[in-house]
Amino acid sequence: MNTSVKDLIRSRRSVRTFGGAPLRSEDRQKLDAFLKTVDNPFHIPIEFRVLEAKEYGLSSSVIIGADTYVAAKVSRVPQSEIACGYSFEKFCLFAESVGIGTVMLAATISRSAFEKAMDVRDTEVMPVASPIGYPAKKQSVREKLMRKGIRADERLPFDTLFFENSFAQSLSPERAGIFRDALEMTRLAPSAGNRQPWRAVVCGDRVHFYEKKTKAMQNNPLGDIQKVDIGIALAHFDLALKEAGAIGRFAAEDPGLGTDDQTEYIVTYEGDR
Ligand SMILES: Cc1cc2nc3c(=O)[nH]c(=O)nc-3n(C[C@H](O)[C@H](O)[C@H](O)COP(=O)(O)O)c2cc1C
Repeated sequence: MNTSVKDLIRSRRSVRTFGGAPLRSEDRQKLDAFLKTVDNPFHIPIEFRVLEAKEYGLSSSVIIGADTYVAAKVSRVPQSEIACGYSFEKFCLFAESVGIGTVMLAATISRSAFEKAMDVRDTEVMPVASPIGYPAKKQSVREKLMRKGIRADERLPFDTLFFENSFAQSLSPERAGIFRDALEMTRLAPSAGNRQPWRAVVCGDRVHFYEKKTKAMQNNPLGDIQKVDIGIALAHFDLALKEAGAIGRFAAEDPGLGTDDQTEYIVTYEGDR
């Protein structure tokens, strides 16, 4: 990617209204090549496929002007949704760098047609798919209303999402030290319904990540879609740190901090001293 990850994160918006032009072959080649390399720090393989809507009868009630989709499937293993969110977001940011619009769709797709096109087996799940195409100059009225309804251009404040040493102490950007920019990038992540379920507690050179669950989004037979959101947020955090030259890793090391019933520990980032 030539543009910085931070600039791509800042400029990316979900695109639901496309101009209708087919993908140029050089752009399609770039996407295909990138999809072959997309990895995640959880080492869980994600299978991506580029699908033509007409060939498989795919549709989405919110999409206008795109005939090509990317979908991802993964084996139902622990952390699979997180890994899928991470890898899918890495792809979306790459697409942004070549001027191609995306929007992750979990609910508003013809799911059975997508799952058939992806050959999803009982042991697998296909959490999200996204159209790929060139954004239209203007959003449809429906898209505008939808964005307004879920306040898609807004994010929760830094000190509501991030904490210091325990959930009792909010973290200000000024006190976030080496993690300041990466947490700001985490804050800007997209999420289902723009619910922003990520929370993080900074303890020295460790950052403990949590999922603050939205009740209405749990008990989904597909699995926990908010874990895809967490994977996206972790991608923003990790890619921003990597770009800044930081070295670290993710590991499951629950520090046992007190949380409310809706908040689940996910993973810890350990920076090298
Ligand atoms: C896991 C996930 C699932 C989503 N599912 C849908 C969906 O079914 N339909 C839709 O229109 N948008 C969907 N979105 C897009 C979100 O509404 C959007 O990311 C959010 O409102 C923030 O807006 P932004 O992406 O423009 O920053 C989904 C996003 C994520 C991350």
